[in-house]
Amino acid sequence: MKTYNLAVIRGDGIGPEIVEETIRVLDAAGARFGFRFDYHPCLMGGCAIDVAGVPLPPETVEICKAADSVLLGAVGGEKWDTLPGHLRPEAGLLGIRAALGLYANLRPARIFAPLKGASPIKSEIIGEGLDIMVVRELTGGIYFGERGRKEVNGAAAAYDTECYSVPEVERIARVGFEMARKRGGKLCSVDKANVLESSRLWRETVTRLAADYPDVTLSYMYVDNCAMQLVRNPRQFDVIVTSNIFGDILSDEASMISGSIGMLASASLARGSFGLYEPIHGSAPDIAGQGIANPLATILSAAMLLQYSLNEPAAAAAIETAVNEVLKTMRTADIFEPGYRKVGTTDMGRAVADAIS
Ligand code: IPM
Ligand code: MG
Repeated sequence: MKTYNLAVIRGDGIGPEIVEETIRVLDAAGARFGFRFDYHPCLMGGCAIDVAGVPLPPETVEICKAADSVLLGAVGGEKWDTLPGHLRPEAGLLGIRAALGLYANLRPARIFAPLKGASPIKSEIIGEGLDIMVVRELTGGIYFGERGRKEVNGAAAAYDTECYSVPEVERIARVGFEMARKRGGKLCSVDKANVLESSRLWRETVTRLAADYPDVTLSYMYVDNCAMQLVRNPRQFDVIVTSNIFGDILSDEASMISGSIGMLASASLARGSFGLYEPIHGSAPDIAGQGIANPLATILSAAMLLQYSLNEPAAAAAIETAVNEVLKTMRTADIFEPGYRKVGTTDMGRAVADAIS
């Protein structure tokens, strides 16, 4: 039988619980569509700091590189918050993005039909729903630019640098154009070209590439305006392509519009088909170990894995359909509404797996 090798980083907080249910669902999808998985566990984040003294042990990078793709729960927690920057769990996340060349971060923000009431935005603005894809550059810009401390006029100062090269912009812009082509045909490139030189180069580069995609309608927006437009009229957006830091901020905003951070998946892609898949929510240490976390964002990330890395679109669609189905009758605490059966992490995972089989 066709076997896929998945590196699995359970991580911290609720990470292990939600990954467990996702594996249950992946196995169910494999059983139905004729493939199976070998899972290769590895450590990153707080648990890696506890065991190996660093947030990203070299062995983890090796295991991930040898796998077809990576499934990640979540990392981080208060326990490690006082460590110096390079030893924090977040450094593991940035390190693995760089080590695996995961330059394209796809963050779909959409409203699942049964959860329409959950958005904090007025229903007349949401209309028939919302389906935005944020394409965030993930291995460049201010996250990875030169940084340091210095003295300015005798006072302590610190700096971080935003720098983008043309090839870096080109490769992420192409992901944006291709994505728009497969979806609604609209791409909005978000920058701060009225102020930043790096944004002016970004815009020039995107404009040049547009000639290769005559079927895509390209627009531009300054990031401050985009933050406003996402709340004023989110349905105007199809695909947004933007830098690492703007994408970090706008994808959180876009996800909140959908009303349920516990539902949103993400893919971080390298060249070729390799990717790392994780929910966009964090490790939620406050509810860890209680069996009440919502596993659906991780389960939907696994659907993205099947779609983007393993080329198993039917299995991916089956997971999404199953999630929509179970949401009609049951809810975890974070998305609970009266009239539904309140379930925990395991029951939700089982229900999705059963709906697939
Ligand atoms: C995200 C997170 C990370 C980021 C943090 C945890 C380093 O906010 O994936 O959006 O800023 O990229
Ligand atoms: Mg973020």
